[in-house]
Amino acid sequence: MELSLKNKNAVVCGSTRGIGLAIAKELALAGANCILFARNEGLLKEIVHRLPGNSGQEHDYRVADFSEPAAVKAAIESVVSKINIHILINNTGGPPPGPIAEASADTFENAFRQHIIISQLLAQCVLPGMKKEGYGRIINIISTSVKIPLNNLGVSNTIRAAVAAWAKTLSNETGQYNITVNNILPGSTKTDRLDNLIEETVKKEHTGREMVEKEMTDKIPLKRFGLPEEIANVAAFLASPAASYVNGASIPVDGGRTGSI
Ligand SMILES: NC(=O)c1ccc[n+]([C@@H]2O[C@H](COP(=O)([O-])OP(=O)(O)OC[C@H]3O[C@@H](n4cnc5c(N)ncnc54)[C@H](OP(=O)(O)O)[C@@H]3O)[C@@H](O)[C@H]2O)c1
Repeated sequence: MELSLKNKNAVVCGSTRGIGLAIAKELALAGANCILFARNEGLLKEIVHRLPGNSGQEHDYRVADFSEPAAVKAAIESVVSKINIHILINNTGGPPPGPIAEASADTFENAFRQHIIISQLLAQCVLPGMKKEGYGRIINIISTSVKIPLNNLGVSNTIRAAVAAWAKTLSNETGQYNITVNNILPGSTKTDRLDNLIEETVKKEHTGREMVEKEMTDKIPLKRFGLPEEIANVAAFLASPAASYVNGASIPVDGGRTGSI
């Protein structure tokens, strides 16, 4: 099975923490040159130096706030003017929790901008290079809420479904160029995002952290939270030549929590 990403260039978004950081590490370990996108320049600099580089790769970064499409466009254009990108990992912070009936128009607009407009803009910028290379992997980090909406994540549920529809449509158009588009649907994964969601529940329900965590893990057949590395392993496979016939798929990586076939 060909899993090497040697001589492949990857843009990894939201890669200073959590799932995005784990994906950057895994892609670098497989030999890819990684260009990291996120807001925190201090962390970006540090991570670029720490990423594995056993295949003599050069890693780089761009500071980009995904709530500002013009700035993100300038950043990705500065990358694709120099090199062709083979792998794009669309990933950013999740929308704030809360019941959908209480969500403001602003919250919906921000989420739409960060998750749909930015993914579209990045894809449009990398697609010409992927076509030239005859190799493309667009991987979107979404959520299992694509299959079954999650309680208290109203805006997130709505926007994830939109991303999944966007991705499926794109996969129908790009498959003919050997450019695949797939979604990873993480379950509860140990990151800052999960920590914050647990803390919100603790406050809202005036209960203890252990109790909240137990209630959550009881619903997972594997009886534990996932690790960012477990999501990253699937991303690295989807990015590799070995995943050549996987296209337009939404793959839950959730310890079996999602109750649909
Ligand atoms: N963890 C879970 O249990 C879980 C489950 C299902 C789905 N997900 C989804 O998977 C994605 C990643 O989750 P995670 O847990 O790894 O999140 P996380 O720990 O909060 O990390 C988010 C990453 O995105 C970057 N980011 C956030 N806002 C940004 C912005 N406006 N512009 C550019 N970069 C931004 C952050 O870096 P900077 O702060 O440096 O910008 C960070 O690197 C999210 O969409 C999340 O909702 C997570």
